[in-house]
Amino acid sequence: MKLFLDTANVEEIRQAAELGVICGVTTNPTLIAREGRNFQEVIKEIAQIIDGPISAEVVGITKEEMVLEAKELAKIHKNIIIKIPLIPEGLKAIKVLSSLGIKTNATLIFSVNQAILAANAGATYVSPFIGRLDDISHDGMELVSDICQVFVNYNYETEIIAASVRHPIHVAQSAKLGAHIATVPYKLILQMCKHPLTDLGLENFLKDWEKVKNK
Ligand code: G3P
Repeated sequence: MKLFLDTANVEEIRQAAELGVICGVTTNPTLIAREGRNFQEVIKEIAQIIDGPISAEVVGITKEEMVLEAKELAKIHKNIIIKIPLIPEGLKAIKVLSSLGIKTNATLIFSVNQAILAANAGATYVSPFIGRLDDISHDGMELVSDICQVFVNYNYETEIIAASVRHPIHVAQSAKLGAHIATVPYKLILQMCKHPLTDLGLENFLKDWEKVKNK
C-alpha cells in the first residue's frame, strides 16, 4: 500500500521522506492555513522534497473558477494533482481537467455514489474521508470497503486514497480492504512504527550485548 503524508508542514514532509516510507503528499486549505504561509510557495517547496503526487486543492466553487485555478497550480510542477470537492461543478471541472491530461483527486467523498460519479468524470483519485464519518457515528471503514468492491466490480482505474485517517487501525484496515493509498498525518507514521514488544526486545538485546561485548 502506498502512503502519502497529509500535511502542508514542510519539516514534517522532510522527516517522513527521510524515513523512506511516503511517496506523495496531500494538502487542503485547512492544512495550508495552519502553516500561515503562501499557498503556491508551500506547494513548490513540497515538490522539491517529494518526487510523487502532490495534491493541491482549489477554492473556487464554479467549474470555470476551478479549471482556472487548476491550470495555474498544474504549472507549478508536473506532479501536482488538483484536489476538487465532490459537488456538481466539481464533476464538470474534473471532466474538463481529465480531457486536458491534468490529474485530479476528488475530495470530500462521503458515499459510494459520489465515488462512482468522480470515477466516471475521470478523476485520477477519490478520497473517502473515514474519520469524519466516524465522527458523526457512521462507519468510515464501511465506505472504503464499499468503494473498493465497486471499483473492482467495474475495473475502474481511479485509485482510492483513504483520507481523514485518524489512527493506525484505519491504515491497516484500509490496506486489507484494498485501498491503493492511505494519506496520513506525520504523527500517525510514528504510531504505525511503534510496538512495545519491539522496544522491549531491543532493550533486552542491548542489555545482553553489554554482557559479552568485551569478551
Ligand atoms: O485528506 C483529508 C484530510 O486532511 C481530512 O482529515 O482529519 O481533517 O478529517 P481530517
